[in-house]
Amino acid sequence: MNSATIGQAYNYKVVRQFVVATVVWGVIGMAMGVWIASQLVWPEMNLDLPWSTFGRLRPLHTSLVIFGFAGSAQFAASYYAVQRTCQVRLYSDTLAAFTFWGWQSVIVIMLITLPLGYTTTKEYAEIEFAGAVWMAVVWVAYAIVFFTTVVRRKSQHIYVGNWFFGAFILVIAMLHVVNHLSIPVDWFKSYPVYSGATDAMVQWWYGHNAVGFFLTTGFLGMMYYFVPKQVGRPVYSYRLSIVHFWALITLYIWAGPHHLHYTALPDWAQSLGMAMSLILLAPSWGGMINGMMTLSGAWHKLRTDPILRFLVLSLAFYGMSTFEGPMMAIKTVNALSHYTDWTIGHVHAGALGWVAMITFGAIYHMVPKVFGREQMYSVPLINLHFWLATIGTVLYIASMWVNGITQGLMWRAVNEDGTLTYSFVEALVASHPGFVVRFAGGVFFLSGMLLMAYNTWRTVRVADERLALSDARIA
Ligand code: HEM
Ligand code: HEM
Repeated sequence: MNSATIGQAYNYKVVRQFVVATVVWGVIGMAMGVWIASQLVWPEMNLDLPWSTFGRLRPLHTSLVIFGFAGSAQFAASYYAVQRTCQVRLYSDTLAAFTFWGWQSVIVIMLITLPLGYTTTKEYAEIEFAGAVWMAVVWVAYAIVFFTTVVRRKSQHIYVGNWFFGAFILVIAMLHVVNHLSIPVDWFKSYPVYSGATDAMVQWWYGHNAVGFFLTTGFLGMMYYFVPKQVGRPVYSYRLSIVHFWALITLYIWAGPHHLHYTALPDWAQSLGMAMSLILLAPSWGGMINGMMTLSGAWHKLRTDPILRFLVLSLAFYGMSTFEGPMMAIKTVNALSHYTDWTIGHVHAGALGWVAMITFGAIYHMVPKVFGREQMYSVPLINLHFWLATIGTVLYIASMWVNGITQGLMWRAVNEDGTLTYSFVEALVASHPGFVVRFAGGVFFLSGMLLMAYNTWRTVRVADERLALSDARIA
């Protein structure tokens, strides 16, 4: 099958574009992560320039990996899966192309404005007002393309993966609009309509659900499509997937206050956030088990299929981080973990172990299909990528756990007379070895990402060469 025939039934062009964008932003965003990790080891790596300081590049790292890498991956996967499960071409090629170029322009706006210091200062929502409005326009176009495709489906049921993609699209729209409500002073500066504790609550309602919907729900949609496909078996329990869906989206939205323990937020709200976070363990694990059990009777495939290994390991990390999260939401645990590297370790257990790993699996699954090849250029390279990513993740999270607990214990240690046992700088010095190990973990992870870029490029090139050859034969 050549790209012409592939392109007729489904719109794979936009999927191809988003797949390439995922790889490109993955490389740049993770390189930025390695750079800021190096700054925490060698401060002079900030080059003593305003735009390259930690404070400017950290939000750029988070924006590029979340919106550029994870965002493009979800566009690609949802466009690919919705067409195949609904057995219909994506609604409107023009609007789909608009979502691609529109979304890329949003990331470029972040790439330019954040290092220049234009920021709302709200974490994961740093893009200033004008950019945020543009982002909302692109998102509405995405919603139109996705939901109209579902409405026009030829299949009877709406496959469960599409429920997750749909919830991700709707909830992100709501969060983005509510959290960005602000009064612009000019093109580059705006002030939120909320103030004080209300502002903090709205921000962390957004922040936590950005995790829940931008870094989880869309990826669960990916899990429900790509795991059964790669295993070659139907999903373990369709009933469980429906319970999983409704329980997850009903509960996630209440857990935001766990980011604001021991703050000016009313105590009852903090306790509610803690309780909801604990209950959240159940649907999270329900989903994880549903994904894992899909492999029943096919576990042997893990021995030979590195793509499946990525998918399964991502589920293991999903299970791990959604166990750790509820534990950290317990107020007494949070009293130790908050402000420390433990949080950073938790974040990257989810971000590297879950989000990035499942993305790698999905991209390796999609690339040959949308570029008209039997398989990736090199399967051994996928295998090597798997090990680099696994070692990188383990080094990253283990070092941050050690650092986090060390910091938490050193900060709270008091002498008999009530004075602090350690100064802040002493805790920082104790953290230095952990920062070095995290940097090494980042280098491993980024190397794997570069291998993926190379493997993808070679696969695309071979596909192009084959096409050119067959065109020449026809001519
Ligand atoms: C049941 C699921 C989860 C719960 C209850 C949970 C809970 C928590 C808690 C209590 C914190 C620390 C808040 C603080 O002390 O400031 C946190 C931070 C965070 N978690 Fe989770 N987590 C969960 C799953 C995940 C997953 C799967 C990911 C990633 C994909 C993730 C990403 C994050 C991020 C990015 C932060 C840092 C937010 C910030 O302060 O900037 N979480 N989470
Ligand atoms: C090579 C891979 C990566 C490296 C080396 C890396 C490194 C870092 C570093 C050094 C920080 C700042 C930590 C601090 O302030 O102490 C950070 C923050 C963060 N990174 Fe990464 N990162 C990587 C990949 C990713 C990916 C793939 C994602 C998401 C999909 C991600 C999401 C985040 C988030 C959400 C934060 C903010 C955490 C918080 O505020 O609690 N990172 N990263």
